[in-house]
Amino acid sequence: MDIKYSKSLEKVSYVIRELVPIAKEVEKKGKKIIYLNIGDPLKYDFKTPSHIIDAYYEASVKGHNYYSESQGIRELRNAISRHIKKISGVDVDPEYVIVTSGVAEAINFIIRVFMDPGEEILVPSPSYPSYIGSPYLYYGKAVEYRCIEDEGWRPDVDDLRDKINERTRLIVVVNPNNPTGALYSHKALREIVDIAAEHDIPIVSDEIYDQIILDGQYTSLSSIAKDNLVIGLNGFSKAYLMTGWRLGYIYINDPTDRYKDDIREGILRQARLRLCVNTPVQYAGIAALEGPQDHIRDMIDKLRRRRDLMIKWIDENEFLTTQRPDATFYMFPKIINGLFRDDREFVINLLKEEGVFIVYGSGFGKLSGTMHFRAVFLPRDEIINEAMYRMSRFITRRIRMVAK
Ligand SMILES: Cc1ncc(COP(=O)(O)O)c(C=O)c1O
Repeated sequence: MDIKYSKSLEKVSYVIRELVPIAKEVEKKGKKIIYLNIGDPLKYDFKTPSHIIDAYYEASVKGHNYYSESQGIRELRNAISRHIKKISGVDVDPEYVIVTSGVAEAINFIIRVFMDPGEEILVPSPSYPSYIGSPYLYYGKAVEYRCIEDEGWRPDVDDLRDKINERTRLIVVVNPNNPTGALYSHKALREIVDIAAEHDIPIVSDEIYDQIILDGQYTSLSSIAKDNLVIGLNGFSKAYLMTGWRLGYIYINDPTDRYKDDIREGILRQARLRLCVNTPVQYAGIAALEGPQDHIRDMIDKLRRRRDLMIKWIDENEFLTTQRPDATFYMFPKIINGLFRDDREFVINLLKEEGVFIVYGSGFGKLSGTMHFRAVFLPRDEIINEAMYRMSRFITRRIRMVAK
């Protein structure tokens, strides 16, 4: 008898890490790789603030090394509630905050609460890959709604409306957005909120980049969704430089009070199965939210300069264009002209020939075509200069080859 595997995994992939084996091969041949693929500031010159590390250590020394509540320790949930009030002006009852091992776990919990086989969630295109892959685990699927490149990747609400049907269970909004770096306007959010209310569909609002705003003003979706059920997802990885610590949370904002207990119970049934989130890390989370916040300003200053440097290189290259990201540390440029078959060919050959590792855009969804890539602008100036120099050299070589 043959061993059988679950079919649920057949369509699950995570494009950001998919090309790592090719990078390792290139590295083995002696070429130094410049990694612009992963949104992890700690791989570059950003460090977890020392007061957060101290709080982790102290929590452990003081004996907070036990299994804690599955929902998360009360002190952290209180701190999260105060933090949401400060950033978004929204009142969230700590009873409806659930602490998770990063937003990654939160995404999975939420999709599982709402999805049955054959059902759909609406996700932006391009989209963070977990939202595209996770529904398949439950024999559902992600349906992409278009974001308009020429308008700074703002969501196309007409397309969103057209894609709603009786199988739609959730609308996902990622603001600020990964991979485009777009910061949505009050008007764009208002339109999504109105459509969701009209059709009684809950919104999942991924706010993990809400403090990494380079230009403009952040508007929290929850703050304008007065009549909607909103499930907010947020975490400590990016703004508090704690990627490897795995800490995030879900909050439930239910103006009707009709659904919040069932949703919390659905999440907690899953949370109990994994017992709890790392307990000392939760104590460190309190220090992160309530301690000094200066590192965020420093981070934004660096990121703004690095973004502008990368854009300068792209503007100077007639084969590349980009929208300017107003938030996050991602850029989603377009490769123009027919020099390359598609984004995958561009990215794989750039990695093999020049050792520059970026992610092909079609891995973030199919609607925006197959000629984009995502690059992070986290590295120091000289590394960005080197990476973009190599990318230009690679494109020039291709032009010569095609001209022959
Ligand atoms: C939009 C978005 N949501 C969620 C995550 C997952 O973050 P975490 O480290 O909290 O699991 C990421 C990570 O890059 C992200 O970009």
